[in-house]
Amino acid sequence: MKFGSFIFCFFVFHLFPANVFGHGAMVIPYNWFDHPQWVEMEHGYEYGFVGMKSQQMCTPGADIPKHRVCPNPEHCEGLLNKHIGLACFWFTNYTFIEKPTLFDPKLRTYAHTGYEDQILHNPWRAPGFAPVATPCGAAGGNPYGCFGDKECGNDNGGYQLGPKATEFEFAHDIHVTDWTRGDHVEVAWGIRANHGGGYSYRLCKIPNEGRKALTEECFQQTPLRFVGNKQWVQFGEDRSTRFEFPAVRTDKGTFPPDSQWTKNPIPSCNGIHGGSNYLNPPCINGTQFPPPGPNLEGHGFYFREPKKHFPFSIIDLVEIPKDLEEGEYVLSFRWDCEQTSQVWNTCASVRLH
Ligand SMILES: *[C@@H]1O[C@H](CO)[C@@H](O)[C@H](O)[C@H]1NC(C)=O
Ligand SMILES: *[C@@H]1O[C@H](CO)[C@@H](O)[C@H](O)[C@H]1NC(C)=O
Repeated sequence: MKFGSFIFCFFVFHLFPANVFGHGAMVIPYNWFDHPQWVEMEHGYEYGFVGMKSQQMCTPGADIPKHRVCPNPEHCEGLLNKHIGLACFWFTNYTFIEKPTLFDPKLRTYAHTGYEDQILHNPWRAPGFAPVATPCGAAGGNPYGCFGDKECGNDNGGYQLGPKATEFEFAHDIHVTDWTRGDHVEVAWGIRANHGGGYSYRLCKIPNEGRKALTEECFQQTPLRFVGNKQWVQFGEDRSTRFEFPAVRTDKGTFPPDSQWTKNPIPSCNGIHGGSNYLNPPCINGTQFPPPGPNLEGHGFYFREPKKHFPFSIIDLVEIPKDLEEGEYVLSFRWDCEQTSQVWNTCASVRLH
């Protein structure tokens, strides 16, 4: 590790004193963490898959015991959240791009921070180029430890030496979703802490050696195309609450070449903290870009009201290529952030017919 990078990391750590707690996850198709369970909702308990239940995007995985994801308790004792195996805790932290390729103001999500130089090499500035430790996320985001920083992540939304999701033995059977080749299918994710950026969905056929042999390179061979130029937010599981708006997508300057990415449509608040220090939406100082609709703005996780999350999921249609072989696949969601040097991943198992 070069000295310059250490200084940089030190600076970032202090620039975001408590801003990197939270995150996001793919919720449809049901991810590896999701299984039928009693879910505590605002109005009482509901049984079933968690999926798009309102404000529950991180709930899958909350039942994973802490010791199974944080081998060394002193690395995670400061964390605000006891449930550190939850789906919104699997990512690659501290990953950077070499050269920005994304300049179009319509694609930017954190152009109004006052710290442009410090976020210039964050993943979204060259979608798909930032290296990831593993294609389905690592618990705590730092599977190889942290650089020069003993207190890494602690109380800051990450921890070190957590397992990779591809190697994790789940206590439940992993749900498998059936899809037909050539179809247009719905996928959805939820934001818990809005770090801007954008995302892509990719497929990889499960290798003979199983889940543990899944690689980022394999997923990079089959990035999915989005269908049409519309997307939706939906509040909870009720389809009638869907709100439609134009999606902002790009396949220029992305990796793998021509892979298509969709901009995270929910603007954070202006400023480097993106609104995490506010009580609630709306953004009292304006948004990083115009919101797609009423109340579709802000950070999602508010330090002054940590129990409230965004009540909606973000839905897109993707096309399953006709020419793939039948069989057992994994879908990997990859969210490249602009506010932070992080890539969030969630995986789901699918069977292609
Ligand atoms: C990310 O990594 C940096 C450098 O290793 C570390 O200082 C920081 O605490 C980590 N953040 C999280 C959220 O894990
Ligand atoms: C709002 O913006 C003004 C001017 O840009 C700035 O001085 C102020 O600190 C901001 N307030 C918050 C709460 O971010």
